[in-house]
Amino acid sequence: MSCWPVVPCWPGGAVLAGDVVLAGDVVLAGGAVLIGGAVQGGGAVLIGGAVQGGGAVLIGGAVQGGVAVLAGVAVLAGDVVLAGGAVLAGGAVLICGAVQGGDVVLAEGAAQGGNVAQGGNYARGPGRNADAERADRCQHGEMGSVLMTGDLHGNTGHALASVRAAVREDCDRLFVLGDFGAWEHTADGRHYFDVVDRSARRNRVVVYFLDGNHDKSSLVHRMYGAEPDDEGFLVCRERVRYAPRGLRWTWEGTRFAAFGGAYSVDKQWRLAQEALKRRKAVRRGQFGASRIPVTTETLWFPEEQMTDAECDELLLDDTPVDVLLTHDKPRDSAPAWNRKDLPECLPNQDRVQRIVTTLRPSLLLHGHLHYRYTDTLAHTDGHRTTVEGLGADPEASQLPDYRGADSWYALRLPYTSATPVTEVAC
Ligand SMILES: [Fe+2]
Ligand SMILES: [Fe+2]
Repeated sequence: MSCWPVVPCWPGGAVLAGDVVLAGDVVLAGGAVLIGGAVQGGGAVLIGGAVQGGGAVLIGGAVQGGVAVLAGVAVLAGDVVLAGGAVLAGGAVLICGAVQGGDVVLAEGAAQGGNVAQGGNYARGPGRNADAERADRCQHGEMGSVLMTGDLHGNTGHALASVRAAVREDCDRLFVLGDFGAWEHTADGRHYFDVVDRSARRNRVVVYFLDGNHDKSSLVHRMYGAEPDDEGFLVCRERVRYAPRGLRWTWEGTRFAAFGGAYSVDKQWRLAQEALKRRKAVRRGQFGASRIPVTTETLWFPEEQMTDAECDELLLDDTPVDVLLTHDKPRDSAPAWNRKDLPECLPNQDRVQRIVTTLRPSLLLHGHLHYRYTDTLAHTDGHRTTVEGLGADPEASQLPDYRGADSWYALRLPYTSATPVTEVAC
């Protein structure tokens, strides 16, 4: 093993191979290449076309600039700074106080943890505000696309797979049709929002959701209700936004409305589980546990359904829309498989039916049933509404043959009733 503890400098086309260790105020310039089990420490600086491969590790005050590429199982820890056209690929990991700036790219499999700060043109290509990008595309007459997806239930793996599906389908928006996993009164719930936001930023996608019966929407309103964005969405994270019940907005000339809420068929089981968790927590408290976890409204949420009064008020504006997004199905749609047909489910389905009749959408997309189907509602005045029910994440799916694609629907904008359904690959 070679080791240089002083202040060496390799200008030009330096190549370091094998079990190289660089410590102290090392500077690698020009077309420097580190391969094998290279380790950098102290105030190491890589500039120009530096490439690190294999089991590269950067620690301490390492700085990378130019078109640096880290591949393989690279680990960056401490006060690492990546600037310029840095690329992290494969199993690259950034931890602790890493700072990324410039045109940094994290490719498939790269992970970030700790207090990573991102600045400059982060992610794929020049980093720009998503809304500004969309406005630009509209101005140039380009179509946009939204990947609609069914219930995620806080399943991080499926949420990230959905973001990737959005990218594959050239969608800059992902819209979750309820049961998103809005549980920010728990540590896991907050972490889930962070992970989804990070993936959305990395992939330059904005993730929107409406509330399902398994979302704590009252908390979303309390935390983020004060400052909605220009379209009325509540900004939960930079790229995670919530559509309150009754919200109307227009994307690429297509008029949308969102109405969340549904009845939980397993409400009694959920309340019993919460009570059990509460009893266990109290018992742990009696034995000296200092931290009592949140148990109330972790599995069942009193705000799960729209009320009639809420529905009446939201329909005071009866302006028609092109696309209606809901969590629950309308009463009259008839999927071939439906386990949410108890009498208690019907009042909310009646409300959704009323919304459809009033707003006369050409297309309605919903989740909740965890089942992919298409139906058509024919209204008495001759108007027709195509209903697309979407599947859920794999853990919530009760069907024997699961296909991720059943939970996704790529909506090309502007939407017209003649816009074809786009089959999304798994
Ligand atoms: Fe649901
Ligand atoms: Fe669900």
